[in-house]
Amino acid sequence: MSFAALRASIRRSALATPTRAAARPALRQSAVRRFTTETPAPKKSNAVLYGGLGAAVIGGVAFYVYASSSDTAKEAGSAVRSGAQAAKAAVNFVPTKADYQKVYDKIAEVIDSAENYDDGSYGPVLLRLAWHASGTYDKETGTGGSNYATMRFHPESAHGANAGLNVARDLMENVKKEFPWISYGDLWTLAGVAAVQEMGGPKIPWRPGRIDGFATQATPDGRLPDATQGADHLRNIFYRMGFNDQEIVALSGAHALGRCHTDRSGFEGPWTFSPTTVTNDYYKLLFDEKWVWKKWSGPKQLEDKKTKSLMMLPTDYVLTQDKSFKKYAKAYAENQDLWFKDFSSVVSRLFELGVPTAQFTTSEPWIMGSE
Ligand code: HEM
Repeated sequence: MSFAALRASIRRSALATPTRAAARPALRQSAVRRFTTETPAPKKSNAVLYGGLGAAVIGGVAFYVYASSSDTAKEAGSAVRSGAQAAKAAVNFVPTKADYQKVYDKIAEVIDSAENYDDGSYGPVLLRLAWHASGTYDKETGTGGSNYATMRFHPESAHGANAGLNVARDLMENVKKEFPWISYGDLWTLAGVAAVQEMGGPKIPWRPGRIDGFATQATPDGRLPDATQGADHLRNIFYRMGFNDQEIVALSGAHALGRCHTDRSGFEGPWTFSPTTVTNDYYKLLFDEKWVWKKWSGPKQLEDKKTKSLMMLPTDYVLTQDKSFKKYAKAYAENQDLWFKDFSSVVSRLFELGVPTAQFTTSEPWIMGSE
């Protein structure tokens, strides 16, 4: 399947979730397009569309209306009014935890809608989006991090490290249409939280407050780790974000999830046999399997000698080679509860990098999802 076809199928399946499917007929019948708020369905559900296209412009918001019956104009007028009212209400709207929970629930639906994509879940790629949006943070300058969601802008969107994350951003763009009041930074990090939790991981305390920034706030290329490098590089990159050795190792366990793609990073394959479930298998496999360099024309990566179906990046393997990293990796291999606890707190911190405390709307982070 070509990449374009893959993306098209991703969009289709993201739209095919029950709630969204239920919402669509209203959109199709009133055929209101390019507006961020759901409009009510016309009262006459059996109206025959004859395909006439009119344009209505109110308050600077333009959208198209298919004429459908004699009272089309009235219906269109009411759709326009309700759209304009919704937009006005949105300006004064102060979302509660229950509102964020609705966004979380929608994201959880999207995660599960990945029928033909990778291993059947969008969770891993959404977690990678949240991490790459946050991991650009530099504690010295206070730049980068999840606050401004600058990966929306070129050239950050096209940085090599972010290859393939357009898939995740496009999925979240659909969610954003339904909940236009949420900032991109909040949406993407909430998606990371949902990904971990919905794939069986620990609860990740999270709170809203990120704001949408501008292209000028984007970070330069090279802030995210390069998988071909060793321990010094990992420390340079993660110490810059404010993390220590234990936290580097705890964060790396995210590679229990997902896989590498040759058309994104150049690497190939999953780290574990259960890439859509959060387990400490990543650490266990690092120590239990014999890892050998893969013989291929791609970038240097390791494969498990036994099945040749799993992979490790040079930066993963270094966790077994560096004395300090090894100590923590062993502890996590032996104790999943310990890793869940440490992973939860370090991911929570990761997602808050670059967000001034005063910006958060609650002092205590929330636990989203079913408690
Ligand atoms: C330690 C340094 C890290 C390096 C060098 C690294 C590198 C990579 C690479 C090369 C890929 C493959 C991308 C692709 O081809 O699709 C990947 C995927 C992934 N990474 Fe990392 N990563 C690191 C840390 C992290 C952290 C801290 C997290 C989250 C907390 C994370 C979460 C993920 C996930 C979930 C995937 C799978 C994405 C998918 O299946 O589409 N990584 N990483």
